[in-house]
Amino acid sequence: MADTQSSPPKTGINAEGFLTDSWYLAATSAELKAGQQQRVMMLGEPVVVGRTPAGEAFALRDICPHRLVPLSAGQQVETAGEWTLQCPYHGWRFGTDGGCRLMPSLTGDSPYDPSKVKVRRYPVHEANGAVYIYVAHDARSIAPPAVPPPDFGPLPEKPGFVIHDVFNAHMDDAVVGLMDPAHVPFVHNQWWWRPPSAGLKLKEKPFVPITRGWAIDRHAPSSNSKLYRWVFGGDVMTEICFQLPGYRWEIISNATARLLTLTCLTPEAPKRTRITQFTWWTGAPLLKLAVPVAKRMGKTFLAQDGRMVDLQNEGMAHQKAMLWIDDIDVQAKWYQMLKREWTAARCEDRDFANPIEPRILKWMS
Ligand code: FES
Ligand SMILES: [Fe+2]
Repeated sequence: MADTQSSPPKTGINAEGFLTDSWYLAATSAELKAGQQQRVMMLGEPVVVGRTPAGEAFALRDICPHRLVPLSAGQQVETAGEWTLQCPYHGWRFGTDGGCRLMPSLTGDSPYDPSKVKVRRYPVHEANGAVYIYVAHDARSIAPPAVPPPDFGPLPEKPGFVIHDVFNAHMDDAVVGLMDPAHVPFVHNQWWWRPPSAGLKLKEKPFVPITRGWAIDRHAPSSNSKLYRWVFGGDVMTEICFQLPGYRWEIISNATARLLTLTCLTPEAPKRTRITQFTWWTGAPLLKLAVPVAKRMGKTFLAQDGRMVDLQNEGMAHQKAMLWIDDIDVQAKWYQMLKREWTAARCEDRDFANPIEPRILKWMS
């Protein structure tokens, strides 16, 4: 993706173009069983995320500093009343703060101090069934996170359902693909959602800046309003938001019900982006019955977007430049603007100043 900066910034972004000093989704709460841990790739680095038998979620670099074996292959054991993760190779034990607590091979008179050894520890925030980790630019930084963890307003404790997918795309292309407004009638044109016979309609939406992102202000949904009325019982409003580094959420609500679908993008590798979509709601009892259908619908949508990403890769193998036009690609440009401002703000050690101005965007879809 085009980035006009000539010299690489010192902080706020890594060599792959992934934003640092940022919170990313690492796992769902349900994936982290008590006393277990798993390896995930985050921004190209291996991370072990787990939960102690006491219920605390933790995240550490998934490489034992001794001989580089993944700590995720070890097990959790108690050390002096504290839960520690024990390396499977020589049994070094690490606390959830990353500090080494024990090296079993040391003799009683050894001068070596295990507590000097530390593995990188990532701050963790768990809320509403989602586990986020903070990826500081400087692996050794112990400074508090540059921004608070993501907050999507009042939500039930657990999501109604979660779906997953992996796109063979750089984070940037995955973000741009998921917010693209003009592909819907061509890509998601299944009879039960947007049959080709529906034709194209004029869309005119008011966009406003929000914290590190933008939103389409609350408006009446333009299509599928019958479906919404059936599920929610009338007078539905919707609101769509995007926030760095890669959160897109849509709120559908009326006087009695509120449904929030959150799409979290996690860069695993330069051409691999994990998509995790949570749906929470309150006050729409019919929705419970619709979960199997809604899950299947959501998976279909993501698979359709994923197929476009694969096709796009065929072009990207031969050409870098894209031709972005107004108004349908304005959001893609905003995303790039926000990323540039993020890195500038981090490099200059100042507050992020959202460069987006309120604007009405118009397109046919
Ligand atoms: S490799 Fe982990 S303790 Fe030796
Ligand atoms: Fe899509």
